[in-house]
Amino acid sequence: MSFKTQIQKRRTFGIISHPDAGKTTLTEKLLLFGGAIQEAGAVKSNKIKKSATSDFMEIERQRGISVATSVLAFLYKDKKINILDTPGHKDFAEDTFRTLTAVDSVIVVIDVAKGVEEQTEKLVEVCRMRNIPIIVFINKLDREGKDAFDLLDELELKLGLSVTPLSFPIGMGYDFKGIYNIYEKNINLFSGDNKKNIEDTIAFNDITNPELETIIGSEAAKTLRDNLELVEGVYPNFDKEKYLEGKQQPVFFGSALNNFGVRELLDCFIEIAPPPRAKMAEERLVDALEPDMTGFVFKIHANMDPKHRDRLAFIKIVSGTFERNRPYLHVRNGKKLKFSSPNAFFAEKKEIVDISYPGDIVGLHDTGNFKIGDTLTEGENLHYKGIPSFSPEHFRYINNADPMKAKQLNKGIDQLMDEGVAQLFTLEINNRKVIGTVGALQFEVIQYRLEHEYGAKCTYENFPVHKACWIDPKNSKSEEFKEFSRVKQKFLAKDKRGQLVFLADSPFSLQMAQQKYPSVKLHFTSEFD
Ligand code: G4P
Repeated sequence: MSFKTQIQKRRTFGIISHPDAGKTTLTEKLLLFGGAIQEAGAVKSNKIKKSATSDFMEIERQRGISVATSVLAFLYKDKKINILDTPGHKDFAEDTFRTLTAVDSVIVVIDVAKGVEEQTEKLVEVCRMRNIPIIVFINKLDREGKDAFDLLDELELKLGLSVTPLSFPIGMGYDFKGIYNIYEKNINLFSGDNKKNIEDTIAFNDITNPELETIIGSEAAKTLRDNLELVEGVYPNFDKEKYLEGKQQPVFFGSALNNFGVRELLDCFIEIAPPPRAKMAEERLVDALEPDMTGFVFKIHANMDPKHRDRLAFIKIVSGTFERNRPYLHVRNGKKLKFSSPNAFFAEKKEIVDISYPGDIVGLHDTGNFKIGDTLTEGENLHYKGIPSFSPEHFRYINNADPMKAKQLNKGIDQLMDEGVAQLFTLEINNRKVIGTVGALQFEVIQYRLEHEYGAKCTYENFPVHKACWIDPKNSKSEEFKEFSRVKQKFLAKDKRGQLVFLADSPFSLQMAQQKYPSVKLHFTSEFD
């Protein structure tokens, strides 16, 4: 098979949702279609259950599962599908943001009863910033939920999407009769207890055909016709180009649990979703078809076994082929590295692989060389546009609780930050270390892992910060900048990359700083032009 065909057949995507909307269930049903698993229940949920917030064994167990489910690959109708798992728990939202840099498209799952929820808003915003093509799947139609049109409105208003339904429900909850598939022009009838693949698909090109009454009953037929008329009047026709540009989002309805509407989603997905796309590096745009291998690290996973401290770095191949035992340049530290056992992922297994193509994810054993965002090439000095950091929500001083173990503590903090567990800020005034996290849970994870993996003990101390703002170094020679640095000295820190950050202690002080020092440009993410 030619290099080009290999690329064309790959679809690398992520499923995002608010916890409990049905991401795990949908993933599992997709794997069933691909024959990658044999029965429902085989994919373990990697979400950290709400009850387990302080149960460390649970966290460890979940970490183990999430290695296994980090990438789930399967074949479906000659396409190689790579699903990149994203943690549902909001405390791990940063992981999800990073994973989104490695996907070529996403499927957003929405709970029909809950509509658009908070976590979905944030994740979709990141996708929209990057023009990632999005398909929406409205789930749990077997339950009572919101009106389909109201949901479509919500998608537009809350998520800023420009939607077009490609299927439409016939009834809902108790009255749920099935789905009219606008894309394929057929009807899928729902039979309540059917947990298997539904084969009962009736081709139905002409919705005015009176046979509709016999199939779904006269009342439902009338409603469906009215609804489809409205759909046609209100929503634009599906336009694949617009979808690919991130400017239009097709919507499907179904029930993942009942495996209903999932095949339609998958069939449409493999037809319209993009193969690996070109990716912007700081230096230039890199096309997937280029022969030289390039790729970047988007995730690092620590080994579960404390005796083997190596980690697994997940690389997304952007161009060329990644080959076993071939030397590649680790651009950040200028070293050539060879990998004798790169892992590829298939269903829930990982195995050593000789060659990987753009769109694929390889897992490389790493003893501490990699950081998230690192680029690998065949020699070119290329830097894939970093993965921006956002302001954490919680900040605490981290103190060494065992003076004999200072070295271990520093190493542990360093490595955990490389993995992206949290962000580290070092205060300019006294070099004290401040950890910033998205959720409070990470502080416990860090403390636990420092102790169990590095033999170091830490304590925390509150450090009230409202927001971390990255400072544009452009005007750093100006008088105003100097004045700002002098007055705000206590609140200035360096992040891990050495970028200067203002840790504003309240919305008021942030506002005052912006007013008083207008030439000092403050940014809410670490990436700015
Ligand atoms: P998540 O990964 O997005 O967090 O959600 P997950 O798939 O774990 O689904 C959350 C809950 O919603 C699960 O129930 C799951 O069975 C249910 N669910 C998913 N899809 C559907 C659907 O189409 N219809 C209905 N009625 N329910 C659905 P749970 O009781 O929380 O967990 P479990 O004990 O069933 O695993």
